[in-house]
Amino acid sequence: MPSLSPEFVAPLVRGRFAVPYLWRETCASTQDLLRDSGLPEGALAVAEHQTHGRGRLGKMWEERPGESILMSILLRPPVGSPTAQLSLVTALATALAIEHVTGLTAELKWPNDVLLGGRKVAGILLEGDGDAVLCGVGINVSQTADTLPRATRLPATSVALAAGRPIDRALLLAVLVDRLEAEYDRWRHDGLRALLPAFAARHRLTGREVTAGRVTGTVAGVADDGALVLVTADGESARVVSDEVIDLEIERLAPASLDDA
Ligand code: BTN
Repeated sequence: MPSLSPEFVAPLVRGRFAVPYLWRETCASTQDLLRDSGLPEGALAVAEHQTHGRGRLGKMWEERPGESILMSILLRPPVGSPTAQLSLVTALATALAIEHVTGLTAELKWPNDVLLGGRKVAGILLEGDGDAVLCGVGINVSQTADTLPRATRLPATSVALAAGRPIDRALLLAVLVDRLEAEYDRWRHDGLRALLPAFAARHRLTGREVTAGRVTGTVAGVADDGALVLVTADGESARVVSDEVIDLEIERLAPASLDDA
């Protein structure tokens, strides 16, 4: 199985990102390869396997070697920028890259999940590093039904399972880096508002009943500043800025064994 070593990926990347390109067979977390590194914006860390892959909210990101895209990119947005929005920017770029390579339509689940056929295929993890942001992306690419991560809240899938064919990981990574650069530049120049139509078109939570913290309501959409907007049963509007959002329908679909694993 071809790796994501620089010889396979560098020739496919066209823009200014992915310089330098750090690649490891194994590391604890690609986030840690960039932390405190002093590297320039666009520095990319990629691994075939992580021994301590991190998800949001203290969860683990589970995978077997050589089946995923595990990457972190160093971003240096202007000081004072609303950097939490980069989760939405990166999720959109990831969805667009998957769509480009597969021809499928990806869905987004605010703020950081990418889904295919209602199942989670990718997640985004943002971490601060001084004024910089470490933006981690994990994509299940080549997993079979037997090798998918099991201890997940949402049912999982891989790009290959959803597409019904093998996927070239190096190509998907290169397209993702290019899309991320394009969407990041658009966000910097025009703000999140410029990306919201593309986000909204893929947002599977719109019109659904969700719970965020103590609030349950129907999702009206995503505000210009990136907040999730809910309408509660008594007609009040509620904004969710950062929380775990549970889609009650997906929750009902998730086999109990996945939650119990
Ligand atoms: C989530 O869905 O909770 C976010 C998952 C993010 C996983 C990626 S894999 C590459 C990078 N390194 C990590 O340790 N985590 C992110």
